[in-house]
Amino acid sequence: MSVTRGTLTVALLLALCGCGTSRSTSTAGSPTSSVPAYVTEPFTREQKLVERGAPLIVNDGCAACHLLARAGGVAPSFSSFAGHRVRLRDGRSVLVNERFVREGLLHPAANELRGYDPAPMLAALARLHFARHPQQVAALAAFIEQVGAEEE
Ligand code: HEC
Repeated sequence: MSVTRGTLTVALLLALCGCGTSRSTSTAGSPTSSVPAYVTEPFTREQKLVERGAPLIVNDGCAACHLLARAGGVAPSFSSFAGHRVRLRDGRSVLVNERFVREGLLHPAANELRGYDPAPMLAALARLHFARHPQQVAALAAFIEQVGAEEE
């Protein structure tokens, strides 16, 4: 569990400071030659979304409820969310992927999770007016998917 939490924290910090490379550590004298290609290549559309989603997770308040890795917390932790199956209030079992997260943000009342109080999530989303901000929803979903995928 602590490994996962560490990975998540590192991923979030790297994304937040926009410095997810080891550029400064091993390149004395040759700033670019020993850097792997993926560092200097332009970001793909998906990577850009993830990068945009990281600060939103904090600024939109999601982190307050969803990054507390405490057992029995108020909300599922994003560190073990994407890539896992969850049970919905109506009994369905669904895989958490980017699509599920997007749907959950746009139609929260239709995607409530069993075992949690839906009120905090509904209250949080009521302030954010996501129906008018599809790009923000896409970025958040991409980030959450990326973080969850790091779980083994
Ligand atoms: C005040 C606490 C709180 C905040 C802030 C919050 N959530 Fe939630 N979230 C919850 C709880 C509790 C649940 C489980 C209950 C439920 O399904 O509604 C949940 C459920 C979810 C789900 C599952 C699908 C759904 O709609 O229920 C997703 C996806 C989600 N949150 C993403 C987010 C994102 C992204 C943000 C930031 C924009 C956010 N949450 C902000 C508490 C919160």
